[in-house]
Amino acid sequence: MLLACLISSRASNELVQENPEKRAQQMLSQMTLDEKVAMVHGSAGPYAGNVPRNDRLGIPPLHLEDGPQGVADGVKLCTCWPSALTVVSSWDVELNYAFGKAMAIEQWLKGTNVLLGPMVNIARVPMGGRNFESYGEDPYLSSVMVAQSVLGIQSQGVIATAKHYADNNQEFNRSSTSANVDERTQWEIYYPAFQAAVNAGVGSIMCSYNRINNTYACENHQTLGIDLKTRMNFKGFVMSDWGATHSTVDSANNGLDMEMPSSDFFGEKLKLAIREGKVSSERLDDMVLRILIPMFSLGMFEYQQTGSLDVDVRLPEHAILARHLAAAGTVLLKNKNNILPLDTSKLKRIAVIGNDGDKDPVIAGGGSGHVIASYVITPLQGIRNRAGPSINVSYAATEPMEIAAQMAASADVAIVFVATTSSEGEDRRDLYLGGGQDELISKVVSVQPNTIVVVHTPGAVLMPWESSVPAIICGFLPGQEDGNAIADVLFGDVNPSGKLPVTFSIAEEQIPVNTIPQYPGIDNEASYSEGLLVGYRWYDAKRVAPLFPFGHGLSYTDFHYDKIQISSSNESVEISADVQNIGQVFGAEVVQLYIGYPLTAGEPPKVLRGFQKIFLQPKSVQTVNFSLGKKELSVWDVSIHNWRVSTGEFRVYLGSSSADLRLTGSFTI
Ligand code: GLC
Repeated sequence: MLLACLISSRASNELVQENPEKRAQQMLSQMTLDEKVAMVHGSAGPYAGNVPRNDRLGIPPLHLEDGPQGVADGVKLCTCWPSALTVVSSWDVELNYAFGKAMAIEQWLKGTNVLLGPMVNIARVPMGGRNFESYGEDPYLSSVMVAQSVLGIQSQGVIATAKHYADNNQEFNRSSTSANVDERTQWEIYYPAFQAAVNAGVGSIMCSYNRINNTYACENHQTLGIDLKTRMNFKGFVMSDWGATHSTVDSANNGLDMEMPSSDFFGEKLKLAIREGKVSSERLDDMVLRILIPMFSLGMFEYQQTGSLDVDVRLPEHAILARHLAAAGTVLLKNKNNILPLDTSKLKRIAVIGNDGDKDPVIAGGGSGHVIASYVITPLQGIRNRAGPSINVSYAATEPMEIAAQMAASADVAIVFVATTSSEGEDRRDLYLGGGQDELISKVVSVQPNTIVVVHTPGAVLMPWESSVPAIICGFLPGQEDGNAIADVLFGDVNPSGKLPVTFSIAEEQIPVNTIPQYPGIDNEASYSEGLLVGYRWYDAKRVAPLFPFGHGLSYTDFHYDKIQISSSNESVEISADVQNIGQVFGAEVVQLYIGYPLTAGEPPKVLRGFQKIFLQPKSVQTVNFSLGKKELSVWDVSIHNWRVSTGEFRVYLGSSSADLRLTGSFTI
């Protein structure tokens, strides 16, 4: 009760305070050199990062804590949420906001006031160890969702941190690799989500471990000073990743504002550099202002925190939300002969197969973003709870496979749960599930035609068995409510509406970064030589059909698209269409808008420029409207270092995925 009223009392107040700049200037004018330097350096423990309180001036401490899917770093008694990649697979803007807000509520109650998330790096490398924390392979989808994460988090008076700026797209040699990226690719692929976070008012940005075009990200004048603080107009503070600071003078002068543990360049060395005139006192003032302004604007001086890391913040409504998020982010990849949803009136025996089904359910990724679950509803438990006493639900682990196959053969339907995961610090060696799971699936489906495969994964996986399996579901990393969420979808209590935020390849050699030798790089240099051709952009440009395309996801109902209308002026383009639920059950559709730039623009064949998730009863029709402004019609022009609207004929595609395009049209600027 206490927690709930504490939250409601703050949430109802207007958190954004008046005149944060003025109040920060006033505070700064009272600070000594030592007090200023004390604010630009964080120490370790008990939070991931700690900046001490200033008792003399009443400046609250900063407690920085991971991560993008809940309170991490070994902290207990909190919600183990689905991964960000799972939530973004719902393509539901409101849900993404709710996710950010709920995570921030738990962080605030734990005493955290800087949440080290969202993680906005593009999933350029399908094997990337941290793709589960990301928003997928597309800059537009990432941008829309990151903005909601930032707004949701900061609505609770907690500073959000968009990380890792920039080009931290692989874990292999992350502390030394140089990501060599051309300017246009940077602005059209890797920067947009950071720009969206800045536009949403993000209080801090974390610079990354890697080098960018041979200069460390945390002392890179081009990326920090020019691109982020000037061109993107970022007014908050840049903190380093942990141990990612490599200098005092270069870091300070090129744009780093706060050094996180466990290096010590911004302590006595910074004071010396200021005394020696190598770092100006104005630059130090700017660093402190950039920290104080978000603290004032988010009400940190009004709302004194009393939380600590051992507080139990497992709110009952968060367990319900975690289940809802996991189900909404579940993607129905295949459903031949409508074997799904399961019909309890016709089933007597269900076989649940595989370690991921009960013995070792995979629900989260590894590293600083790993969240400890205080409980896990396994798929077996979720299915038993939902099936009820009249249905026999049996279970067999992955090994011995013969037992699993026998059990599957004697059931009405077999549901094989397979999984893999990944972690910060290392990329996956390949995209196979491993652990004999591919073989398990082949064995089961050879004796049981009614086989459903459920995959839990941190990103794209290969499915060599796909053609022989009638139904496939991908739940990415589902969090503590794993079994309840998958049961909701399997039995049709939730009609699946997730869409893939990453492309699933047919085979390893089809993967973009494996076809151009720039992953993991040569001599610690990762040349982003594929340029704009990341994810589906590459498949479209090479005319290669992946296994399951970006934006793909089926439903238990069907949708009909009709009546596209396009009207354009030189300033904007309005596009509308009617979508109808022509099936028998309520369902949601993510209507996706892709545009093809004029051929002279040098863009990939088509790029996502809009999406709307609509919820329709059977037979209902809804008109969806999209408006494209200058920004959506521009390319980055390196000759003016700015966006420029393309001119010529644009092609318009509206559809249910990047490959399932239902309506087309065109307009000319
Ligand atoms: C880690 C991660 C970063 C995390 C930080 C604090 O190395 O790269 O995402 O927020 O350190 O744990």
